[in-house]
Amino acid sequence: MTLRHDVVIVGSGLAGLRAALEVAGDADVALVSKVFPTRSHSGAAQGGIGAALGNEEPDSWEWHMYDTVKGGDYLTDQDAAEVLAKDAPRAVYELEHLGVPFNRTSDGRIAQRAFGGHTKNFGEAAIKRACHAADRTGRVILDTLFGEAVKRGIKVYSEYQLMDLVFTDGAASGVVLYEAANGRVHTVGARAVMLATGGFGKVFKTTSNCFANTGDGVYYCYRAGIPLQDMEFVQFHPTGIYELGVLISEAARGEGGILRNRDGRRFMEDYAPTIKDLAPRDMVSRAIVTEIRNGRGIDGRDFVHLDLTHIGRERLAEKLSDISSFVRDYLGIDAATDLIPVSPTCHYMMGGIPTDLDGRVLGAAMDPIPGLYAAGECACVSVHGANRLGCNSLVDLVVFGRRTGKQIRQDLDALQRLEMEGEPAERTVETIHRIKNRGRGERASTLRYELQRVMTEECSVYRTESGLDDALGRLEGLRARYESVTVDSQGTSYNMDLLEAIELESLLGLGETILLSARNRVESRGAHSREDYPERDDENWLKHTLIRKTEKGSEIFYKPVAITRFEPKARTY
Ligand code: FUM
Repeated sequence: MTLRHDVVIVGSGLAGLRAALEVAGDADVALVSKVFPTRSHSGAAQGGIGAALGNEEPDSWEWHMYDTVKGGDYLTDQDAAEVLAKDAPRAVYELEHLGVPFNRTSDGRIAQRAFGGHTKNFGEAAIKRACHAADRTGRVILDTLFGEAVKRGIKVYSEYQLMDLVFTDGAASGVVLYEAANGRVHTVGARAVMLATGGFGKVFKTTSNCFANTGDGVYYCYRAGIPLQDMEFVQFHPTGIYELGVLISEAARGEGGILRNRDGRRFMEDYAPTIKDLAPRDMVSRAIVTEIRNGRGIDGRDFVHLDLTHIGRERLAEKLSDISSFVRDYLGIDAATDLIPVSPTCHYMMGGIPTDLDGRVLGAAMDPIPGLYAAGECACVSVHGANRLGCNSLVDLVVFGRRTGKQIRQDLDALQRLEMEGEPAERTVETIHRIKNRGRGERASTLRYELQRVMTEECSVYRTESGLDDALGRLEGLRARYESVTVDSQGTSYNMDLLEAIELESLLGLGETILLSARNRVESRGAHSREDYPERDDENWLKHTLIRKTEKGSEIFYKPVAITRFEPKARTY
């Protein structure tokens, strides 16, 4: 069935919702989500949203910008960092006025706490910049913005999965969707299509990401020949619950938590003497892996301890209640008295669909593709460079989500409704038919597990050329085996078996772009740490990677970094 809207936004996390609110009223906007909107992964963000409000101590947007650039190991585009840092206070007050229940200081202002890599006076000491609602900040913002969307009557296609992007003469003209409840395929024509489909942490075995984070929007761009930017930069959050990957917020260290090795030593003193446990995530994750490799994991095993026992039961209940219940439920321990076993977990993708500062998706010549927009984790406006700082994600979503909505509104008059040529849903219908009707074959879950294992073994916190080569060989084998993937269920209602088989194509494709980009970058920068090239090499590698699918295979090219205020310097904390 063909549907029509002026604007279709795929993804109902904070970036999609914020953009939709900007467009609603001026155009017929539809929000599409593969899950019920309030189950979007933005709701899993725990610790805070960064803004230089200066409510707890003096702060300035310049310090926030500097931290964002330095945290990103100088791969951050500084024009984007300036937009983020300058606009963040406005964005937070806007959320407050919409009703987000932030924690308060004793005199009633929005409370703020310390977070990794956020400093005062250009790196002098840690600063309290993360505005928060206990440790469920993303949850309350998501609920608030979704409430606004409902109030404004925005049309929501809930539990519709993106299957394809439709282009007419090089411009976006619609999307193809699969309705999970009944297996129907829909084509939706639109004058503007925005992708806000989030990250793809499910490429890795241990991740803080939800099951829905399979990167479909990003992969469909790549499949359509749009380049992807900086795919080698994958963030591992230092404190996932050991073996499960469930996030223990950085806010735990912001509230005073300490990482300890098998000797009980606060080992971050050795790696980041000034801000210790509040160093940026790439540094803390490397420190944990180094401790483990040197036999200083707990009982010689592959985890360390997060110690919150000195924080006190009352403060844990007030500020860190969700993570206290996570460790109680998952591990049967009490954060007020027990040490928490943690190790790095795949958390965030710095790379994605290249955009300009207003969410316009950039094609192979780095010029905007008419009618196509992206914001949030699926996009790479490159505000996070080679490593995102904690609490800079939520602010990215609302700042760049709003800017993208504004840009769409501004462009809409000039964007015609384009005829969708041929049968736009043909590829989708054929794919479903093929997977369902293969008599014998492999299950998607087997292949997905093998992909996640390869990526985790060879492309995590540390990487080497031989490991990446080995991973690419194994991935090629998996791609060949994907051609025989099949499902047990022929059902049309919530056939998750089928949807997982379809998502696996995205995971395999994105895994390959990560490996190729990581093998190509022969230096260490931010979250990309090559053991065979341990130094940062500004002379040759202070540039963004772009990877594009061509008829001859993948092609890599480059784009300069925007440097406006801060010249690259050695990165010490
Ligand atoms: O640790 C955290 O609470 C995560 C926050 C973030 O990724 O920004």
